[in-house]
Amino acid sequence: MDKKTKLLKAEIEKDILEAASMIKNGQIVAIPTETVYGLAADARNSDAVEKIFTIKNRPSNHPLIVHIGSFEKVSEWAQDVPPIAAVIAHHFWPGPLTLLLKKHDSVNEVITGGLKTVALRVPDNTAVLKMLHLLDTGLAAPSANPHKRISPTTAQHVLSGLSGKIDAILDDGPCGIGVESTIVDLTQNNIRILRHGPITKQMLEAVLNISIDLPAKHKEHVPGNMKCHYQPYTKSSLMTLPAIEAHLYDSNNQEKLFGIIHYSDLSSVYKNAKSLQLSKNKSGYSQFIYHALHEMDSINADHILIETPPHTDEWQDILDRLSKACAINNE
Ligand code: TXA
Ligand code: MG
Repeated sequence: MDKKTKLLKAEIEKDILEAASMIKNGQIVAIPTETVYGLAADARNSDAVEKIFTIKNRPSNHPLIVHIGSFEKVSEWAQDVPPIAAVIAHHFWPGPLTLLLKKHDSVNEVITGGLKTVALRVPDNTAVLKMLHLLDTGLAAPSANPHKRISPTTAQHVLSGLSGKIDAILDDGPCGIGVESTIVDLTQNNIRILRHGPITKQMLEAVLNISIDLPAKHKEHVPGNMKCHYQPYTKSSLMTLPAIEAHLYDSNNQEKLFGIIHYSDLSSVYKNAKSLQLSKNKSGYSQFIYHALHEMDSINADHILIETPPHTDEWQDILDRLSKACAINNE
């Protein structure tokens, strides 16, 4: 049976304390981060962590990220930590970067999906850092969306997917970045990006002065790295803007309704389309892309058409998410 989801506000001190105490009692609280909202449980409480998988309908072998309060806490969750971890953390934490390390023996495999590695991140959100400080534990938190669906960047998105299934949400307004963290694997000889994100290959290489491998190069299957993910309920396609406009002009498509997400200017107004124009600037685009997908999914369109983003290093995370959003679901 559904429960009442408590609405808490990140700008109210006592609400932060209440969110922390609910986590301490084994409850599940959606938390804000700078990337997307997360669905958090005490990472030392495996019964609570198991609830996350049930609520999201997530397969148990899809590992979760553990959010910690500072780099000093890494040694409580990971072992054999290479020196480069401190360099990366120094430059990018708190921030949208997750480090994959060999897990500490004390970390329950419920979190890691049975793997011997653990993903760690210090999120850049004042309220959550305060909760982490109060609790002195880690917060296991995947994005706060039902499995395979669009990640939430507002409290409203979280509630539309999970209201009645979670104990509370700590609302801190829209997420500033809007796309999930970059995941960097430090468990192999070569440093690899496992998931593209706001911290790009070039940004890492500039700081570390070494070359980084990209996801396409790693062959093994990482659970949770699926072809179909971040999906609207409405059929969605990536197209160039000229192809989108040709589609809207097509006489066979005049009785349909299209949702258009674009950043270049449309050359006309179309009566068979509702359009949402995002920024040409990557960070402006990134902040609102999931919001645009949520919006377009709510208008009961026949088809969402998304202008293909630029194929540059900076836009790799957006390309990755949109390709998965538009992949045919045959898994
Ligand atoms: O920005 C983010 O990373 C957000 C916020 C809430 O922090 N979190 C997030 O979590 O995107 P989630 O569960 O939606 O995606 C985490 C991904 C998993 O799908 C999995 O691919 C990878 O992290 N991951 C976690 N632990 C791993 C491990 N031990 N080995 C390989 N991949 C792992
Ligand atoms: Mg996710």
